[in-house]
Amino acid sequence: MDHFSYKNGTLHAEAVPVDAIAAEHGTPTYIYSNATLTRHFQVFDGAFSDLDHAICYAVKANDNHEILKRLGALGAGADCVSAGEIMRSIKAGIDPSNIVFSGVGKQPWEIEYGIKQNIMQFNVESEPELELLSSIAASLGATAKIAFRVNPDVDAGTHDKIATGRQGDKFGIAYDDALRLYNKAATLDGIEVQSVAVHIGSQLTNLEPFRQAFTKIKDLVIQLREAGHNITHLDLGGGLGIPYKKDIPPSPSAYGQMVKEVLGDIGCKLVFEPGRLIVGNAGILLSKVIFLKETYHGRKFLIIDAAMNDLIRPTLYDAYHDIVPSVEFDHTTDVFPTDIVGPVCETGDVFGKDRELPTMKADDLIAIRSCGAYGSVMACSYNTRPLPAEVLVDGDEVIVLRKRQSLDELLAR
Ligand code: LLP
Repeated sequence: MDHFSYKNGTLHAEAVPVDAIAAEHGTPTYIYSNATLTRHFQVFDGAFSDLDHAICYAVKANDNHEILKRLGALGAGADCVSAGEIMRSIKAGIDPSNIVFSGVGKQPWEIEYGIKQNIMQFNVESEPELELLSSIAASLGATAKIAFRVNPDVDAGTHDKIATGRQGDKFGIAYDDALRLYNKAATLDGIEVQSVAVHIGSQLTNLEPFRQAFTKIKDLVIQLREAGHNITHLDLGGGLGIPYKKDIPPSPSAYGQMVKEVLGDIGCKLVFEPGRLIVGNAGILLSKVIFLKETYHGRKFLIIDAAMNDLIRPTLYDAYHDIVPSVEFDHTTDVFPTDIVGPVCETGDVFGKDRELPTMKADDLIAIRSCGAYGSVMACSYNTRPLPAEVLVDGDEVIVLRKRQSLDELLAR
C-alpha cells in the first residue's frame, strides 16, 4: 500500500497534488511519501516483533540524507557497501553499532574507516579480504567483528543481473569452504567471529529460495558451533520483492513466518537488510510530456522529459513500472497502446511499451510509480542531462531533499 492516489481526479502524494509539485519544482522530480516509507518500515519490523532482531536498511536502495535520518529515527540501522555509505549513515544519525559493511571489494582505507567507527560487523566475502581485515585491525590494536557472507548456491529466481547466490556469482565464499575459513578466522589477530551472512538476490517474489538458503545456513551454524565457533548473530540479507505489476509478492508477515519456521530456535540475533521493500513503493518519478508522436502504422510514442539517465531500471533489467497520468482516466474507454520513452539517444530509453493510456499532449504530467528504490541513486548525467530534483511529502508539507542540478553545476565538473 502506498500514499500516491487520485483525489478529485488528480494524482496526489499524500495531501499534495502532484501538479503543484511540478509547478513549484519542475520535472523530472522524484517524489517520496513519508507515510509510505514509515509504514513499510514498521510493517517489516513488526513481522519480527517477537524475535531478537535488527533491521539494517540497505542504503544503496536510496541514500538520501533525509530518508536515512527518518529511517534511523524509526530504529533502522544500515547495511553499507562503501565507506561513503557508512559516512552518510553516521551523518544521518545512525549509530555505528547498527551498521554492517558488505561488499566484495572493500579497500584498505574503507576497512580502516569502518574499524575506527567500531561498526557492528564486517561481512567478509573472501580469504584475501579476511587477511587484509586482520592485518589492519591488528595494526590499529582493534578487533573487527565478522560474518562470512556465504554463497549457498541457490537460484533466487529473479532477474539474472540481481541474483547473487549462485555458484557462478561473484558474491560470498563457497559454502563448502566455510568451515575452513571460519577455523582460519578464529586463529587470526584482530578478528572476532560472530555471525554468518547470506543474501541471494533482489526482488524475490517466492519464499522457496529464501527457505532453501536459510536451511543451508542453519545447517552451517550447527557445524560451526560443533567446531567451537560462537555464532551469536545471523545476517539474512534483503531481497523481498515489491509489487511492480499486479502480481503480489509474499507479504512481510509471510516472510517473517517462514524465517521463524526455519530459524526461530537458532538462538541468534537476526539481522535483515531490506532496501527495496522499504523505499520502493514510497517514491514516484514525476515527468512532463514533451511530444506525442505517431510513426509507422499509427504507433504512438509519448516522449517525456525523464529518461534512462534518471531511472535506468527498465533499460537495465527490463523492469516493469506502472505509468499513470496525473489526471485520472477511464481505463475502459479512449485508451490507446502507447510507448512511453525518454529523449536520450538510445533505443533502450523506454519506460513502457504498449501501455493503455488516454491521448496526452505536451505539458501533461505523467508519473512512473515504484521508483523509490534504485531510482535516483542510479541516476547519471548521460547526454549532459542534469540530475533530477527530489522532494519528500509529509502530509501537506513538501520538503526539498535535493534541488535539481543546474546545467552550470553539471558543466563545472
Ligand atoms: N543486502 C545486500 C548484500 C545486497 O547486495 C542488497 C542489494 C540488499 C541487501 C538489498 O536488497 P533489496 O532488499 O533492496 O532487494 N539495482 C537493482 C537492485 C540491486 C540490488 C543490489 N543488492 C534493481 O534496481 O533492481
